[in-house]
Amino acid sequence: MWSIDDVPSQAGRVAVVTGASAGIGFATAKALAERGCHVVLAVRDPARGADAAARIGGSTAVTRLDLAALDSIRSAATRLIGEYPRIDLLINNAGTWSATRAETRDGFELQFGVNHLGHFAFTGLILGTMLATPASRIVTVSSVSHRGGAVDLSDLPMLETYRHTAAYARSKLANLLFAFELQRRLAAAGAVTASLAAHPGGVWTGLFRGANPALLVNTLGRLVTQSPERGALATLRAATDPAATGGQYYGPGGMGELRGAPKPVRAIAKAHDEALARELWAESERLTGVEYGPTLRPA
Ligand SMILES: NC(=O)c1ccc[n+]([C@@H]2O[C@H](COP(=O)([O-])OP(=O)(O)OC[C@H]3O[C@@H](n4cnc5c(N)ncnc54)[C@H](OP(=O)(O)O)[C@@H]3O)[C@@H](O)[C@H]2O)c1
Repeated sequence: MWSIDDVPSQAGRVAVVTGASAGIGFATAKALAERGCHVVLAVRDPARGADAAARIGGSTAVTRLDLAALDSIRSAATRLIGEYPRIDLLINNAGTWSATRAETRDGFELQFGVNHLGHFAFTGLILGTMLATPASRIVTVSSVSHRGGAVDLSDLPMLETYRHTAAYARSKLANLLFAFELQRRLAAAGAVTASLAAHPGGVWTGLFRGANPALLVNTLGRLVTQSPERGALATLRAATDPAATGGQYYGPGGMGELRGAPKPVRAIAKAHDEALARELWAESERLTGVEYGPTLRPA
C-alpha cells in the first residue's frame, strides 16, 4: 500500500504548487518541502501564502498567481522562469467551486476559467523551463466528479445552462483531457517532461465549506471524507513514484475512490477522447492567447 513514506527525497528539486495556501495544496506543498524540495507556493493571496510558508517551514517561496486573471498568470510565469533555471514539478492543484455563475477577469465562466484555462495557460508559459529539467513532471488535479462532466465547446460560457455541479464537473473533465493530451504531445516530442493526473477522493476543505455551510452537512461531511494530508497522497504519488512514466491517473483505492491509499484509477472514456482533447486544446490556446509552440504539435 503506497504511503507518505514512499515519497523519495526531493533534495535539489524545485516544485511549484498552485493553490498551496489551503487544503490539499497546502498538504502537498508541506510534504514535498519535508522531503527537501524547494517549494514555490503559487497563491492568489500572498499574505495567506506567507502564513502557509511559515507553517510549512523548510525551503519555500511565495509567488502571487490569480488563475482567474490572465495578466496575473503571465506575470507569475515570467517571474518564475526568470528566477528558476529548473522546475522539476508543477502541481496544478488550485480549484474553485462557485454556487452561482461567475466569471474570471477575462470573462470566462469561473470554474472552467480557473480550474482548466488558468492552469492550461500557466503550464504553457512555464513549460520551456520544465522541458529543460530532466525527469520533470506536471500533475493536474481532477476529481471523481469528472465522471458527470461534459465539454461542449459550443457552450463554454454556460450563460443559459449554468448549474454549479455541471460547471465543476466540466472543469474537472477538462483537467483530465488536458493532462492526457499533454502527455501524448510530450511523448511524441520525446520530451523529458511527463504529464500525469490525480484526484484526492473526498476531502472536507474550503471547496465544500463554502458550498454547504449548514452545520449538519459540515459534520457529516467530515465523517465521510479524509484529511487533506491523505487527500494529497494521490498527487504526491503522481509527482514522485519512480514507476510512473506519464499518463497515469491516481486516486484513493477505497470504496468509490473517496478515501484510502492511492492507486492507479480509471477515468471515464470521454477523458481519453483524443479528438475532443485536440479541439479543447486549440480552443484553450485561442481563448488564453498562450500557444504551446511547435515542440508540442498534436501527437
Ligand atoms: N476537497 C475535495 O474533496 C476534492 C475532491 C476532488 C477534487 N478536489 C480538487 O482538489 C484541488 C484542491 O482543492 P481543495 O479541496 O484543497 O480546496 P480548497 O481548500 O478550497 O483549496 C483550493 C485552493 O485553490 C486556490 N484558488 C482558488 N481560486 C484560485 C484562483 N483564482 N487563483 C489561484 N488560486 C485559487 C485557493 O486559494 P485561497 O486559499 O486563496 O482560497 C485554495 O488555496 C482542487 O483542484 C479541487 O477541485 C478536491
